[in-house]
Amino acid sequence: MRTSNYSGFFKLSVEERLNEVAEFANLTEEEKAVITSADSLDEDKADHMIENVIGKYALPMGIAMNFMINGKDVLIPMVVEEPSVVAACSNAAKMARSAGGFTASTSGNVMIAQIQVLNVAVPFAAKSMVLEKKDEIMRICNEKDPVLVKLGGGVKEVEARVLDTKVGPMVIVHLLVDTGDAMGANAVNTMAEAVAPYIEEITGGSVELRILSNLADHRLVRVRATWRKEEIGGEEVVEKMINAYSFAEADPYRAATHNKGIMNGIIPVVTATGNDTRAIEAGAHSYASRSGRYTSITSWEKDSNGDLVGSIEMPMAVGLVGGATKIHPTAQAAVKILGVKTAAELAQIIASAGLANNMTAMKALATEGIQRGHMSLHARNLANTAGAKGEVLEKIVKQMVVEKKVRLEYAQELFKKYNEK
Ligand code: MEV
Repeated sequence: MRTSNYSGFFKLSVEERLNEVAEFANLTEEEKAVITSADSLDEDKADHMIENVIGKYALPMGIAMNFMINGKDVLIPMVVEEPSVVAACSNAAKMARSAGGFTASTSGNVMIAQIQVLNVAVPFAAKSMVLEKKDEIMRICNEKDPVLVKLGGGVKEVEARVLDTKVGPMVIVHLLVDTGDAMGANAVNTMAEAVAPYIEEITGGSVELRILSNLADHRLVRVRATWRKEEIGGEEVVEKMINAYSFAEADPYRAATHNKGIMNGIIPVVTATGNDTRAIEAGAHSYASRSGRYTSITSWEKDSNGDLVGSIEMPMAVGLVGGATKIHPTAQAAVKILGVKTAAELAQIIASAGLANNMTAMKALATEGIQRGHMSLHARNLANTAGAKGEVLEKIVKQMVVEKKVRLEYAQELFKKYNEK
């Protein structure tokens, strides 16, 4: 199998990069065309995806290189508007390779559906009544989705608790549903609605809300990786990075930005595969607040060799069947590039990208600052806008960065100068 470990991928043309990726992932000519065409989503599909459609909106798809996850080489498609995200992700993955790359696992594909029961005369007894009828509740729910049950999914557990609220006590029932390789929102919402009349019958209360929870803490993904100190500038850098992490761990203002940097890796892959970005954001930030204080989703430590060890744990409710993933041709092509067959594998890759982006952001912040890296990418964009290509572009970028004059007018001036030579 070919490696994802490339040097100088960024120096290739768009077409050359696509050819490399196509070879790696065995993409057909048709799939290649879908990726390059801004029009791969036809009007009819777009019109049926959301409401009041007037057109489509294209974003660049880049590839994060160098990832090795659970011993397998992976190329990661990222759809994002922010420069430097793809490069940062690839850099962290490259530096992680010498210690074995990323190790990832998931806790399963279990989603939670919530059922809110109001006007219960004896809430604590009603909670027991619900749990006594667990088997029947599960039967009613599973009857709604025989295909899922046949595939090994369906309701696996029923939980109930009494919640004290501003308007008095409520009984809250949770259905824990294994949704397999689907994100599962439709499946769990259908089940919650189907079982609601029976819950009313048992409790004597009235059911109001029946909806999944995005705090999908039964669908966690965990990823860890080690960066050897020699790869990242020595033990001093490791310590500075742990100081940076400790700041985020202790302070919600910093944690918000630290976690934003993690989402820089996560959301572009969620987007590329047609999954629900808002669901992932909601899950991440609610999980980050589960102790009552908002904190980092990642943890960073120094091992006995003085190497940096990072880990991430968060809900990751993504699917491969249904939704835009199945409808959008480019999302299908992205799934093929990833080479994933299960939602769990997809979740592991997405969280690895998140850990990677967090690592490079912390490294830059704790050492040279974030602007230097940003500046050379910005300089590249400007040189390109000025019309430069190949060697001339590289020279202009270098000169602008060295002279700290990263401006379009200067890029144009340099381009003119090099062209006259
Ligand atoms: C910018 O998109 C992300 C960072 O702000 C993340 C961080 O501060 O850790 C660089």
